[in-house]
Amino acid sequence: MPSQRSLYPDVDSPGLVLDKDRLERNLRAMQAACDAHGVELWPHIKTHKMVPVLRRQLELGARGITCAKLGEAEAMLPSGVRRVFLAHSLADHSKIGRLRWLADQLDELLLAVTSLAHCEVLESLLESFSLPVPVLMAVDTGLGREGTRNPGQSVELAARIRRSPRMTLAGLYTHEGHAYDASNSEEVENRAIAIHRTLSAHAAAIGAPPLPFWPGCSVTALRMVGRPGVRAVRPGSYVFGDLLLSEETKVASFEDNALSVLATVVDRPESGLALIDAGSKMFGSDKTSSGLMARCLELPRLVVRRVSEEHGFLSGKGVDDLALGDRLRFIPAHICPVVNLASQVAVVQGERLVDRWPVDARGRTG
Ligand SMILES: Cc1ncc(COP(=O)(O)O)c(C=O)c1O
Repeated sequence: MPSQRSLYPDVDSPGLVLDKDRLERNLRAMQAACDAHGVELWPHIKTHKMVPVLRRQLELGARGITCAKLGEAEAMLPSGVRRVFLAHSLADHSKIGRLRWLADQLDELLLAVTSLAHCEVLESLLESFSLPVPVLMAVDTGLGREGTRNPGQSVELAARIRRSPRMTLAGLYTHEGHAYDASNSEEVENRAIAIHRTLSAHAAAIGAPPLPFWPGCSVTALRMVGRPGVRAVRPGSYVFGDLLLSEETKVASFEDNALSVLATVVDRPESGLALIDAGSKMFGSDKTSSGLMARCLELPRLVVRRVSEEHGFLSGKGVDDLALGDRLRFIPAHICPVVNLASQVAVVQGERLVDRWPVDARGRTG
């Protein structure tokens, strides 16, 4: 095996390395799929949390963005974004000043209503707004998190929203995160069919005028864009990819993975095991269903199955050929928490370091 010591010598180890060309391909592919079906792209920025990535999404045609938290939206404003959907149950009265300020910076702010109880709280929170705020109503399509559980609940919640002087009902949204349990394209297709059927049943029960659908998940996005009633999709992790997309659900290939953890082999305590200088403080704690926390980009037979805070336990065929000081890149199981743990990424093209981008919304969880 050639020595890996010279891999990105200007990047500190451990650190995040972003392949700019792969990122560009991922952004273009999702935007092209949306454009081909006349569907709006409102990417969830919780994955990248970076203004330069969002700028590129907007340049390519993204209509708006999805955020979980106010802090994420605030951090993204320098991108020039004009439309934000806050896809979370806003229920904290102390945030009203920030919410009003954010609304003033935008052309369009969409809020989420996630249950009858939440609708009551949101209504009181919006008391000081002069105009009704457009809201999307959450439908649970299988994840079992926020949203109405059956069409009857949707009818009740839609009627409650429509009675409110503070809100206008603009559509139905869902995060179909349960689709991550699909393990091949047929299963992904079946999830997409079932999710669309559920949204359609809720919309039919609510009745006219028909409400547009806003699904949001990287596993299903390409299969939702062509379905009737879908106005927008809100995928997040497609920008960088991870093992959940390339190995678990197989909706992407290993070569689509754009963001990796650069780490150094720091010891080889026994045969069959090498230690790297990246542990849970880089990788987080998520695993694939087969127990992988990361796979090596340069030598894909090498995997991380276990971490402690500052060590990754590296095993697999060829591990005994590694030398202390070797540098390798690793694709994490789940990319979103990895980005949130980092303060910047090194942007590379081929072997060249071309930029460094801060993770602008790092830790903006409120
Ligand atoms: C409400 C909501 N929308 C969209 C997404 C994007 O999902 P993904 O990262 O699978 O693309 C998420 C992810 O957690 C979410 O919670």
